[in-house]
Amino acid sequence: MCGIIGYIGNKPATPILIEGLRRLEYRGYDSAGIAVIENDAVCRVRMPGKVEKLAAKIAQHQFEGTIGIGHTRWATHGKPSEANAHPHANGDESIMLIHNGIIENHQSLCSQLTGRGYHFTSETDTEVMAHLIDDAYRGDLVQAVKQALGQVTGTYGLVVMHTRHPDQLVAARRGSPMVLGVGDGEMLLASDVSAFLRLTNKVVYLEDDDIVSVTTKDFTIDTLAGEQVQRDAEPIEWQDNAADLEGFPHYMLKEIFEQPETITNAIRGRLVESEGMAHFGGLDDVLEEGMKAAQHLVIISCGTSYYAGLYARYVFEKLTDLIVEVEIASEMRYRKTNIRPGTVVLAISQSGETADTVAAMREAERKGALLLGLVNVVGSTISRMTKAGVYNHGGPEIGVASTKIFISQCCILAMMALLHGRFNHLSVTDGMEVVNGLMRLPDHIHRVLKEANHIHAIAAKYAQANNFLFIGRKYNYPMALEGALKLKEISYIHAEGCAAGEMKHGFIAMIDENFPTVCLATRDTTYEKTVSNMQEIKSRNGRIIAIATEGDDEIGDIADDVIYTPATLDFLQPIPAVVALQLFAYYCAMERGCDIDQPRNLAKSVTVE
Ligand code: M6R
Repeated sequence: MCGIIGYIGNKPATPILIEGLRRLEYRGYDSAGIAVIENDAVCRVRMPGKVEKLAAKIAQHQFEGTIGIGHTRWATHGKPSEANAHPHANGDESIMLIHNGIIENHQSLCSQLTGRGYHFTSETDTEVMAHLIDDAYRGDLVQAVKQALGQVTGTYGLVVMHTRHPDQLVAARRGSPMVLGVGDGEMLLASDVSAFLRLTNKVVYLEDDDIVSVTTKDFTIDTLAGEQVQRDAEPIEWQDNAADLEGFPHYMLKEIFEQPETITNAIRGRLVESEGMAHFGGLDDVLEEGMKAAQHLVIISCGTSYYAGLYARYVFEKLTDLIVEVEIASEMRYRKTNIRPGTVVLAISQSGETADTVAAMREAERKGALLLGLVNVVGSTISRMTKAGVYNHGGPEIGVASTKIFISQCCILAMMALLHGRFNHLSVTDGMEVVNGLMRLPDHIHRVLKEANHIHAIAAKYAQANNFLFIGRKYNYPMALEGALKLKEISYIHAEGCAAGEMKHGFIAMIDENFPTVCLATRDTTYEKTVSNMQEIKSRNGRIIAIATEGDDEIGDIADDVIYTPATLDFLQPIPAVVALQLFAYYCAMERGCDIDQPRNLAKSVTVE
């Protein structure tokens, strides 16, 4: 969603802010802006549209100021326009502010401020903060920000600067991420580290209710309640070059091709071949209560991470006796659930910042569950809310459409199922078979990637269809949902995923020669049934693209086109299969000329409800 970058240091701030905004583009946005303090005045440039447009406009000026803030806005209150773009200001433009999150009581605050003579120039909820700070300001910016925040309800990650304090940035967070990068004679504030990784890898993760005051050399943190806190800078592992395209036309394609390595990183040091076992250092502290003794597991997540959870349910059911429920976080948080002390709740999230997942976790915590996490972004909100957990170690995922982290989630969840299974009834030989299957996955994915040109040719043939159906059974059902989601996210083609057995209960009404179906028909115990569904589609003139197991020559008699994936254990087969679906979605979007890495209306991390 919205992206934040702030800079204070010894270099001109503008190029650093613009580069930071470029690095944040992947989060999704529809307008952008910066403000820099120069000679005790503010230079502010904002506009709807891309950062490149903003950069071109700024290139007409020679801003030399060494303190500034920049923002990419994903519209919530008010359409994308110059007036609604951040930074927002008070009346005399001495205060500039950028904000992620939502000020829920902005309307009542706005009425109060209007009554006191304040004039609003935008439709945003953010602007109210600039006036509140103005109203509270008596010479101390931190105090003014604190007082203003004391009046708001909602979520925020914000950075403020004031022309009377040209050597200070003030930032605060509640429910929206904010990190401080500590450089040499310079400091950076951002909504995620990728905005400044090229300048420093020393990071302080701010906690909810922290307020930080930053100068070029130093920072102090205290809380809304007025307590001074000590937070140390930690080095982070991610390499800045992980955010470069390295010759690929899009991050999505780069990340699809990275998947063999992503799996290697996910399983490295976590599989014990001789014991047919998995081990996660991050779960050691909860092994007894969480992994050995657990009887009831509830998985909560959203979007693609939810589909990883659905896949995990089948795998847990195969390898363990656990009762597993999978919940969409935004639904679970409002339901009466059977979560109670003894329930293990596992939150899955690439970003670790998804607002619905965070809220559902709070509900689960209230009900006494043991909270675990499977998260990619180190230090993110979800990773810090859980009692224990596992990192994907997948590096930054920049493409808005999640690919490599979905694959990583599926592998790690299968390993978690193996761990629980081996503590219970699963035999060492069965465990060894699973370990072996997981270790061969990078090679299996390599083989699917070699089919990229073939998949491209199939995509080119079908890319002008307006509708698609994706079907699969058992382990392949979540992949059918994921395949449909990938296609609609980046190509804007309407696509539906359904359990193959459900097709005859309604979906089949849509099938005709213009409505192709992607059938996940890898070899498992449900293969024959899926083939029957394919026959039903064929009888209604539907065109079929089959994802099938290598060696299945008969499938070509029913399907119009076939993409083969390597044979492996039945429950691991969907993993290479979904790689074929990612490539299919990618090439369909390319054929349609879509903006693949920044699809319209979508955000990488969804930090609002
Ligand atoms: O960061 P999270 O895994 O919590 O994100 C959940 C969803 O917002 C995310 O998977 C979304 O559906 C992606 N755009 C899928 O490609």
